[in-house]
Amino acid sequence: MRRYAEEIIGSGISKKWSKIDKVNITTVDEASLTDVLKIYSQNFPNRSEKKLIRYSQIFPNIFYVIQYNGKSVGYCSYYIQPTLSLRKIKRSAVIFSVAVDRDFSRKGFGEALLRESIKELKVNRIESIWLFVNAENNAAIGLYKKIGFESTDIIENMYGEGKNGCKMRLLLN
Ligand SMILES: CC(C)(COP(=O)(O)OP(=O)(O)OC[C@H]1O[C@@H](n2cnc3c(N)ncnc32)[C@H](O)[C@@H]1OP(=O)(O)O)[C@@H](O)C(=O)NCCC(=O)NCCS
Repeated sequence: MRRYAEEIIGSGISKKWSKIDKVNITTVDEASLTDVLKIYSQNFPNRSEKKLIRYSQIFPNIFYVIQYNGKSVGYCSYYIQPTLSLRKIKRSAVIFSVAVDRDFSRKGFGEALLRESIKELKVNRIESIWLFVNAENNAAIGLYKKIGFESTDIIENMYGEGKNGCKMRLLLN
């Protein structure tokens, strides 16, 4: 119930969204979603795509896709997590999923996606960004640390027996 209310408020915030100019980065649409789902299943073969599709529908303005030569080669999908503090709503964003097509990895697409989307989140008064990542995922952790994220918690067995999760945060002000 609480998650549902947060989703409605978060989705409302993301509808009144100010966009900034971004090079080769668009937001998801029907055509790019097909490519995004291929990248998702290539990188997360055992996970359902249901939630990603849902976020493309309720948070389309914060579902970023990066293009190269007319092809979608990576995406970063966020949702907004509103929290009530001192009688005002604080705006945090959570990275739901980020991935780059393996044929285009290590060419700076992941970094560009994050840097550009974060600039836009800042313009829209998002105060912090959170994410969870498998503690063994060195590529993703390397990327997040390069951007400035710091680890705040280790969640034991989050991804299965002996597979810990790492909670990370980036403060934007
Ligand atoms: C994580 C991911 C999105 C990075 O995208 P990318 O476009 O390949 O990364 P970039 O080229 O932008 O690299 C930026 C930085 O990330 C880090 N990085 C990226 N790939 C790395 C690797 N294989 N090993 C270690 N660090 C890596 C480095 O710090 C790199 O900076 P550098 O090139 O100056 O060393 C990509 O590897 C991916 O799609 N992984 C599978 C999906 C996934 O795990 N998503 C995260 C779930 S939480």
